[in-house]
Amino acid sequence: MYRLLMRIVGRYLDAERAHRIGFLLLRLALAVPPIRALVARRCAPPAACAVEALGLSLRSPLGLAAGFDKNAHGVVALTALGFGYIEIGTVTAQAQPGNPRPRLFRLMRDRAIINRMGFNNDGAEVVAARLAKVRRTRAGAAAVIGVNIGRSKAATSEQAAEDYGVSAQLLAPFADYLTVNISSPNTPGLRDLHAIELLRPLLESVQAACAQARAHAGLARLPLLLKISPDSNDDDLLAIADLALEMGIDGLIATNTTVSREGLRADPALVTAAGAGGLSGPPLRERALAVQRLLVDRVGGQLLIAAAGGIEIPDDAVERLDAGAQLVQAYTGFVYGGPAWPRTINARIAAAR
Ligand SMILES: Cc1cc2nc3c(=O)[nH]c(=O)nc-3n(C[C@H](O)[C@H](O)[C@H](O)COP(=O)(O)O)c2cc1C
Repeated sequence: MYRLLMRIVGRYLDAERAHRIGFLLLRLALAVPPIRALVARRCAPPAACAVEALGLSLRSPLGLAAGFDKNAHGVVALTALGFGYIEIGTVTAQAQPGNPRPRLFRLMRDRAIINRMGFNNDGAEVVAARLAKVRRTRAGAAAVIGVNIGRSKAATSEQAAEDYGVSAQLLAPFADYLTVNISSPNTPGLRDLHAIELLRPLLESVQAACAQARAHAGLARLPLLLKISPDSNDDDLLAIADLALEMGIDGLIATNTTVSREGLRADPALVTAAGAGGLSGPPLRERALAVQRLLVDRVGGQLLIAAAGGIEIPDDAVERLDAGAQLVQAYTGFVYGGPAWPRTINARIAAAR
């Protein structure tokens, strides 16, 4: 049913508009308390899925990756579908419109997505106010919310540390963990922050801002994750893992989207027409898993590894967990799989335990 709908929608509706409408309908339906209660009961992860990670008790290691709910509009609805945690964002210090449209493309034959959204979001102040409201509700207080922050387009690499610090300061009081995103391919220069000499002051700034904001609000220390690119070479990724360990970062998310176009089945003309952007979904799977293995070998057991990239079928999630990830997260698999997708993945995770 959902697949048929996807095919029809894919043919007639621009992908971004389809996302907006689909997400809105989901939120509206799940805003009705009896419907949400019913769905939440039906989709609740089996008890065997429960994990402890980052000092948090999660119903499932499966999370929704950043980018789906950039502005924290749907945390409660998405949690009801069975995700163990929702990573909102990327949020930037300054509100910004993102890149010109069209900027989101589905490659149906690959069950993949190309996007160059460019961190369109309402800005840290607005999103913080929204999260504060969400946290005042019972369902919102119980939800596990990761907040993913990135660099404002107007900030230079030299201003990045301060810019991320502003977002961290505003959002830290409402997050269960914070992700420092240096890996989107759609903000010019962002991936330069993989360079150790730029990354160190950036992380110091975020750590200081978080510590201050949390202390001010009388809250415990906030776990910090770093989200990395699959397109950096292995040596650079290992240097980042070493730095993260040295600086007391809690974990790494591997990975963001790739700029590679290898291994696609889609008509090359379609791929060319889509243009620049990050590719996600199954074509990313192999590289994301390779990066995960690299990191597990280097810092496994010391840093948490959250696996992302091409997790589509239930076995993908189990494979990542077996390969040493404590958490998994996905975006594209959920888009193609539909609202019942987290339930299917959770059932397989529980069966594997
Ligand atoms: C349309 C779209 C928008 C995204 N936006 C963000 C973002 O704002 N911040 C971020 O860290 N990752 C973003 N991502 C990357 C995902 O969080 C995830 O790391 C990546 O898509 C790989 O996982 P997947 O193959 O399950 O989609 C986005 C992905 C897609 C498809």
